[in-house]
Amino acid sequence: MKILLAGGAGYIGSHTALQLMAAGHEVVIADNFDNSCEEAVKRVNELAGKEAVLYEADVREKEALRRIFREHSIDCVIHFAGLKAVGESVKEPIRYYRNNIDTTLSLLETMAEAGVKNIIFSSSATVYGEENPVPLRETMRRGSCTNPYGWTKYMMEQILQDASAADPELSVVLLRYFNPIGAHPSGRIGEDPQGIPNNLMPYISQVAVGRRDHLTIYGDDYPTPDGTCRRDYIHVMDLADGHVKAVEYAVKHKGTEIFNLGTGTPYSVLEVVHAFEESTGVKVPFEIGPRRAGDLAECYANADKALEILGWKTTRNLEDMCRDTWNWQKQNPMGYRPDKKQ
Ligand code: NAD
Ligand code: UFG
Repeated sequence: MKILLAGGAGYIGSHTALQLMAAGHEVVIADNFDNSCEEAVKRVNELAGKEAVLYEADVREKEALRRIFREHSIDCVIHFAGLKAVGESVKEPIRYYRNNIDTTLSLLETMAEAGVKNIIFSSSATVYGEENPVPLRETMRRGSCTNPYGWTKYMMEQILQDASAADPELSVVLLRYFNPIGAHPSGRIGEDPQGIPNNLMPYISQVAVGRRDHLTIYGDDYPTPDGTCRRDYIHVMDLADGHVKAVEYAVKHKGTEIFNLGTGTPYSVLEVVHAFEESTGVKVPFEIGPRRAGDLAECYANADKALEILGWKTTRNLEDMCRDTWNWQKQNPMGYRPDKKQ
């Protein structure tokens, strides 16, 4: 099949492109490099031993999408294109709503024109909000999000569900990711955040490689076994494999289907720090700071539905996630751009 990856040069998109090509699919990537670069796609091609077709394009621009749909017969779209920094979304909500909602609308409109009927969307566990008990199941109602980024995911899910309700031919798969970390085991592709990382694992690996002084753990007074927050960390390669299964599912079904992509096992911040130290042998100095606004004590999946329906489950453990993150970070201390400041 030929799959269009909107935002496919980014962290999750690049790993998914590789796994799709390894499974024998053809990949077309559209990305404006807002948070990524061409080098990631070059490395994916090297690893795959095949070429993904790359368009430097803003996915909000319908003319750019029309050209892609004219030039390629696309079987399925995977929509990764979006802004994703929670803190930034609080400061720049309009930019987040504009980018994330418009990419979704432009994709749906041009897909309809081109007769493309299958779309997979990168959603997030954040749509469960604060109201639901863990482990989180797809049957639970979405909750209230704590930031504009989360609301864009909530709204985009709604838009996609409404579109599939109105068009019986449309197949929509909403994938709710938990906490993706890790990298391809070669260390050639990985997560390359701009500026100071917001997320735990990139921060830990940048401390380990000497780019940051120490980690601040946001609060140790949560109602969890060691007082630090617990999350469902998932290896990005497992997540990528989940997309391969989702594509194969999407093209055979109609309507909307939602899947959690997580391991179902939560780890605390302290457990992640210790696992990283053990699997890499590198010390990660840390201090305990105040809680971060909006953090939930616990967030983890019930991932049974993905196993039952997609036949997908995770195969990589926390040690693999730490080792592969470190392999990527130490080979690429400044990410894809060695001349990068900070
Ligand atoms: P990323 O920033 O690495 O990838 C997103 C890609 O989209 C980038 O390459 C960026 O340049 C591109 N992009 C953004 N706006 C665009 C536009 N208008 N036109 C074209 N390209 C555009 O992020 P990621 O971690 O790979 O996340 C992929 C998707 O998964 C995002 O939608 C994100 O919100 C979602 N998600 C990520 C996480 C996570 O923790 N990484 C968790 C849940 C959901
Ligand atoms: N943390 C620290 N110090 C740091 C960074 C994070 O202690 O420097 C802690 C956080 O407080 C949290 C845990 O590490 O307890 C994980 O934090 P992340 O920022 O890595 O991940 P979140 O669970 O907050 O957010 C992630 C994604 C969001 C998504 C959300 C819910 O980044 O996009 O999961 O799915 F919305």
